[in-house]
Amino acid sequence: MSKLENIKGVIFDLDGVICFTDQYHFLAWKEIADKEGIEFNEAINERLRGVSRAESLEIILEKATREYSAEEKTALMEQKNNIYKEHLKDMLPTDLSKEVKDTLDELRARGLKLAIGSSSKNTEFILERIGLDGFFDKISDGKNIINSKPDPEVFLKAADMIELKPEECLVIEDAEAGIHAAVSGGFHNAGIGSASKYAKTENAIASFRDILELV
Ligand code: G6P
Ligand code: MG
Repeated sequence: MSKLENIKGVIFDLDGVICFTDQYHFLAWKEIADKEGIEFNEAINERLRGVSRAESLEIILEKATREYSAEEKTALMEQKNNIYKEHLKDMLPTDLSKEVKDTLDELRARGLKLAIGSSSKNTEFILERIGLDGFFDKISDGKNIINSKPDPEVFLKAADMIELKPEECLVIEDAEAGIHAAVSGGFHNAGIGSASKYAKTENAIASFRDILELV
């Protein structure tokens, strides 16, 4: 891995990059799917990575045996989020790994601007749970976008907020939709976890600390 030229900021996806909420999303959607008698498993859950709540529900409803009205969908999303938020209360600052915290501190010490670019509307709540509230320079999340990943909107807004051009930012992602969003927005990207294997991943990283070799 070699250093990228002229990187002035890093934009982090949240779920699957800074912290691990997959299991909680899975448990909450599973409870909803079971109640509705809809098949749902880990493979379907994998497709929800980086995708908005509304689009996640559409993916789950592909297995439904009847149509759902807009009102029913809104109600299901609300129920799912309530269950999910109850699970999030189990998250503690000790759920933030030392590797992630030390790497973020080192990036900050190097003078890089640090932002979040997440589809989640629970971003602020999650950051609070893991003790990172107030840490990032700016937060672009599911609350300030119309189009979710793979649309680049969330990252373009993040870059705008930290006053950098896309090509001056490195996006860190674990989802294919997120890597596509970074590429179509003109950002450099590093893929971690599942995203280390995607065709459009520019820099596959095995570990969070590897970001330090890229910037
Ligand atoms: C992240 C997760 C997705 C989730 C989305 C919306 O991108 O990877 O699985 O669907 O956020 O999350 P929310 O907290 O708004 O329901
Ligand atoms: Mg993610």
